[in-house]
Formats: sequence, C-alpha cells, structure tokens
Amino acid sequence: MVQIPSDDDPTGVKATATSSRRNLLTAAAGALGVGLAASVLGPTLVFLGQPLRHDATSGEGDFVPAGPETLFTGRAPVKVDLYADRVDAWNRVIQVKIGSAFVLRKGAELVALSSVCPHLGCGVDYDAGADKFYCACHKSYFSLDGAVESGPSPRGLDRLELAQAEQLVTIRYQRFKTGVESKEPIT
Ligand code: FES
Repeated sequence: MVQIPSDDDPTGVKATATSSRRNLLTAAAGALGVGLAASVLGPTLVFLGQPLRHDATSGEGDFVPAGPETLFTGRAPVKVDLYADRVDAWNRVIQVKIGSAFVLRKGAELVALSSVCPHLGCGVDYDAGADKFYCACHKSYFSLDGAVESGPSPRGLDRLELAQAEQLVTIRYQRFKTGVESKEPIT
C-alpha cells in the first residue's frame, strides 16, 4: 500500500487507513448483496420449476363420460365426442375434446370403436346408406364390428374399453399407432 503524505497527514498513514476501511466496506456490501439475491432467487426458481416435475395429462387413458345409456338404444352407431381436463405444468384447461368414438349395440352389449382410421389417422365416419364405417382419405371401408372390408387400412377399427355404471356410459380413450397391423397404444 502506498502512503501518500499531505499537509495534515505528513506520513500518509491516515489516508491509507481510510482507504483500507473503504475497501473493506465495499467488499462487505458486495457480499451482503450476493447473499440477499441468492436468498430471494433460490426459492423463487424452486417455486417456478416445481410444476415441471409433474407430467402433463390430457385425460387420455382414463374413463371419460360418453353419455347416458338411453343415448345408445338404437342399432345404428352413435358418434360421441369425449372430453377431459387437460393439465400441464402451469395450466388446467377444463373439458378439452380429446377424441371421438362410435358406440353401438351388439345384442345386450355396448361396444366402443375409435373413430381414428388405423391407416394414417384420418377421421372415420358412419355411412348410414351402406351401413358401414368409411374413411374418405384413402377409401377404407369397415364393417359394423370394425373389421376392414376394403382399402389400405392395415387393421380394423380399434376397440376401446367401455364401462356402464348408474346409467352412464364411460369410455377409456386411447390412441394407437397408425400404419401397423397390430394394435399398439401410444403412450
Ligand atoms: S387414413 Fe383412412 S384410409 Fe388412409
């Protein structure tokens, strides 16, 4: 440390001591600032990042309501849209459409078929005149039990799990790989 003499401090000792105190105070203030910033930022980052540890869900794979049993009394397939809450890291969107299915009666049993074409994923419709399901994209036709009758679809329409309780029909909605012969759920 260089001691700078002056008229009222001929040896320069006072100036050196003042300078050292100033440096010490500056360093202490800096350390205090860093500590304060860390104490605020740390918990904030943990709080903001917390939702990322949870998977986003869309209701797929759960049983969701398809309608009352009285909706499915006729012979013709009934197309139903299926809704569930979509939850991601920070948002919950109430009742988003997750897909559609056909519900039809086979004797005493109700059956649900996905409306997604197994060929390349277009939407399948019911042709009441022909009494068949068909996909307009590449002209695949399916019988009422879902089997392929003609066209490029590599497999029949995918059957979905259906449950009935307290006069309500629910369907476990799932998507399956397209363009393959086997029914493989997309996880
Ligand atoms: S997507 Fe349905 S026939 Fe091609």
